Amino acid sequence: MLVRRARREDYPAFAAIEAEHPGFPAWGEKGFAAEEANRNSVTLAAEEDGRAAGFVNFWVLRPQVQLNTLAVAGAFLRRGVASALLGKLFEYARKSLCREIDLEVNERNAAAIALYAAHGFEVVGRRPKFYNNAEAALLMRRTLPAEDK
Ligand SMILES: CC(C)(COP(=O)(O)OP(=O)(O)OC[C@H]1O[C@@H](n2cnc3c(N)ncnc32)[C@H](O)[C@@H]1OP(=O)(O)O)[C@@H](O)C(=O)NCCC(=O)NCCS
Repeated sequence: MLVRRARREDYPAFAAIEAEHPGFPAWGEKGFAAEEANRNSVTLAAEEDGRAAGFVNFWVLRPQVQLNTLAVAGAFLRRGVASALLGKLFEYARKSLCREIDLEVNERNAAAIALYAAHGFEVVGRRPKFYNNAEAALLMRRTLPAEDK
């Protein structure tokens, strides 16, 4: 599997992946395109057999990285795609001298919470009525050790 910077041609595939997950707060093609204007924003694609299998977007706001969105195509679930994307995000965070990665996740999203917990994130807060003024978000954080010199 290859994890690389996303390109404009990937956005239709990203939108199709979003549509596979009902209730997922989708950005759509326009949302991904809009991120190109933000120099702190990084969108990565996971590519498997020439197909986009997943994506992640995050903002590098040193000393913090904010993970904004992450999803994997149904056909590629539980094959380490999200883990590979997170691994690359951690690499960016370290190289950018960031010490902390923050995200919000729907508290009913057991798969994502399990994924983040498996990668060292801890629940540090809860925001009631975060999604559509109805469902709560958990705030999760992973702290990175200081870079070895
Ligand atoms: C959450 C999501 C990104 C996980 O992607 P994935 O590529 O299947 O995850 P990985 O294969 O890297 O899984 C790594 C670990 O996370 C945990 N995990 C992932 N999916 C899980 C699930 N459905 N149930 C329980 N644990 C799960 C497991 O510990 C897994 O390790 P294992 O397969 O060895 O048991 C995927 O289910 C998805 O796209 N969901 C819809 C979008 C979404 O909710 N995104 C998160 C928004 S904050």
